[in-house]
Amino acid sequence: MSRKYLIAGNWKMNKTPADGADLAKEIAAFVTKDESVEVVICPTAVALDRVSSVIEGSAVKLGAQNLYPKASGAYTGEISAEMLRAVFAKYVVLGHSERREYFGETDAFVNEKVKFSLENNLNPILCIGETLEQREADETLEVNKTQLLGGLEGVSEEDMPKVVIAYEPVWAIGTGKTATPEMAQEVHAAIRSELAAKYGEAVAEKVRILYGGSMKPANADELLAMKDIDGGLIGGAALDAKSFSDLIASAR
Ligand code: G3H
Repeated sequence: MSRKYLIAGNWKMNKTPADGADLAKEIAAFVTKDESVEVVICPTAVALDRVSSVIEGSAVKLGAQNLYPKASGAYTGEISAEMLRAVFAKYVVLGHSERREYFGETDAFVNEKVKFSLENNLNPILCIGETLEQREADETLEVNKTQLLGGLEGVSEEDMPKVVIAYEPVWAIGTGKTATPEMAQEVHAAIRSELAAKYGEAVAEKVRILYGGSMKPANADELLAMKDIDGGLIGGAALDAKSFSDLIASAR
């Protein structure tokens, strides 16, 4: 496969800056300079700077969990792309289902953020995924298509290789229930074919599509063996150095 696996740890609202620095140090020690897998960690906003210093010079890259799509100004509580670049973040998680559910983020708003991140040299990790109700109503592919195309509205073909898609079935996040490899592959293949329809086959083949939702060392090998699964966006199992290192090892 020409796509490089990407293992991204989304720490969500966990770890103080000190705890995050300790975890980052252990991860950086595990990841080799010529690592075959791209490794990204996404701490909370207050831990970004400190974690950034810890991983400096290592092959571990920094990601943020959010940004606000304006250059600067009166947006209390928000974080700009310039601020993320100043701490050397390379990636930003956008459209996570928790942000859609608890903070009312719509496809249109997520799309603004995706475009803004690209304009500001940050690689977006665009998250999409269906709820249990939507899966049971047989709406899985339609929901994912809507969120995918909504999030990518106006994104150019040239920018697409910088975009990472994360398929995260909402019912599998933090629940211990994982999509079977076949269930995940079906959606990943559908996502890639939507990308091919919009941008052409060659571009679609370059875009990495991560799986997220209770991914852990015990199920990583079989998920990563699927043709269209190019890595993982990991929550719970990214909070522990041993399990996150085991996930990286699975992707090697
Ligand atoms: O961003 C990560 C995902 O929401 C997965 O979280 O691995 O705890 O299920 P989880």
